[in-house]
Amino acid sequence: MNTKRLAVFISGRGSNFRAIHDKVKKGIIRGKIVVIISDNSAAPGLEYARSAGIRTAVFEKKREESRDAYFERILTLLERESVDGIVLAGFMKVLSRNFIHRYPNRILNIHPALLPSFPGVEAQKQAFEYGVKYSGCTVHFVDDGVDTGPVILQEIVPVLEDDDEHTLADRILEKEHTIYPKALQYFCEDRLEVQGRRVFVRPEGS
Ligand code: GRF
Repeated sequence: MNTKRLAVFISGRGSNFRAIHDKVKKGIIRGKIVVIISDNSAAPGLEYARSAGIRTAVFEKKREESRDAYFERILTLLERESVDGIVLAGFMKVLSRNFIHRYPNRILNIHPALLPSFPGVEAQKQAFEYGVKYSGCTVHFVDDGVDTGPVILQEIVPVLEDDDEHTLADRILEKEHTIYPKALQYFCEDRLEVQGRRVFVRPEGS
């Protein structure tokens, strides 16, 4: 099995990226992070990438540029780097259709709620304000919709009486740092099998 070449997309602090990189360094994820891509040159996660010796590429969207043209620029780099898997880790732009279709079931995303509940932005706040007793996080493949792709892994986080949206978000983030590396581990071992909307994790060595 070849080591998967991964591109990680961030827009901000990059804590999921760091959790993933940690598992790559330990050899638990059989992948190589070949590039960190950000739409925001001020993303704190870029600093970490540089200090870890990982290549970074900033793609700021030009005002007059279409979504398609913007993502074509990124695709050129990904193809040059022979990227096998794309890891969205807090990336704040919606991908173009063409981009998604170039990497079917090879783009992963983490969402800080139990999908299909609370898709979109500020998911932790949405869940908190709705008053649910349990929320959590979801790793899923990316399809054409926003946060609608087949679910790979989920983790539950109870909402406590004295929570606010921030304490809840912090506890969800801890779980994100567990399930995202796990899902990527499976992905890099070719153990994820998609059948319609269902994703099966095949046993090791199967
Ligand atoms: C996480 O809450 C993730 O679920 C969401 O964006 C946030 C990114 O955080 N998609 P970080 O940049 O990985 O720290």
